[in-house]
Amino acid sequence: MTSPNTEAEHVEATNLLYRDPALYDAVQSDSTSAEMCQTLIELHRPDARTLIDFGCGTGRDLEILAKRFECIGVDFQPGMVDHAHQVRPGLDIRTGDMRTARLGKRMDVVTCMGNSLAYVHDSEEISQVFTTFAAHARPGALLVLCSPVAPITQAEPTVATVDTLRGTAMVTIRHEWDLRTQINTMHRHWVLPSGDEAQDEIRRRVLFPRELERYVEDAGFEVLDMADGTGAGLTGPTAYTVARYTRD
Ligand SMILES: C[S@@+](CC[C@H](N)C(=O)[O-])C[C@H]1O[C@@H](n2cnc3c(N)ncnc32)[C@H](O)[C@@H]1O
Repeated sequence: MTSPNTEAEHVEATNLLYRDPALYDAVQSDSTSAEMCQTLIELHRPDARTLIDFGCGTGRDLEILAKRFECIGVDFQPGMVDHAHQVRPGLDIRTGDMRTARLGKRMDVVTCMGNSLAYVHDSEEISQVFTTFAAHARPGALLVLCSPVAPITQAEPTVATVDTLRGTAMVTIRHEWDLRTQINTMHRHWVLPSGDEAQDEIRRRVLFPRELERYVEDAGFEVLDMADGTGAGLTGPTAYTVARYTRD
């Protein structure tokens, strides 16, 4: 395993938004994943009171979920955690690596949202992450994941505008798919409001549905649902997976 600090530093260095967590929050401000997560919890575990979120980033989902649950967040990038402490001081957000973290607490709900699982690329390390999920799950606990289950293979670059705190940025996105490693790389070219240009890339491991199911089950969870949140079943590329912990 690469040393956690080195890997967290590498993730931060390659993603422009992680170098500027305030920009990350601005770009993600229209995300509905916390609401989706809450709907799934209310459907499958309406009595849940406690929740732990692995790969919580700046805590933007936790801020919403903390209105309903007693929450802890864990992320391995000190920059994201520091930003979370500054802008969301009421939240319990800790620095930790989801491959190895052991908080000594078992919760009603374990979440890993916003594709955080996809930043772990090695199969053995993915198993370790699921062992971490199990180690923090009470009997009957719910696991809610939001992760890529199919690659984005679109060859043509797309251009989008992004509202940032300092004005509008323009980003051109190109996707690359490596079937052998199941890594989907998103290459971005930014033209920032200042006129400066920057490039970054995000490398995410795709776990196909049957493969994801296997990791979930091997760690002692039973899959209850896998859907993309559009109401159309599972069409990809991203899915919400809901599972129940079946061990004591
Ligand atoms: C795309 S962000 C998602 C953050 C948050 N869940 C959200 O939806 O806004 C992915 C996060 O996963 C975190 N991450 C990646 N690998 C991790 C690991 N091994 N342990 C803890 N956090 C990790 C990154 O630091 C980053 O904050």
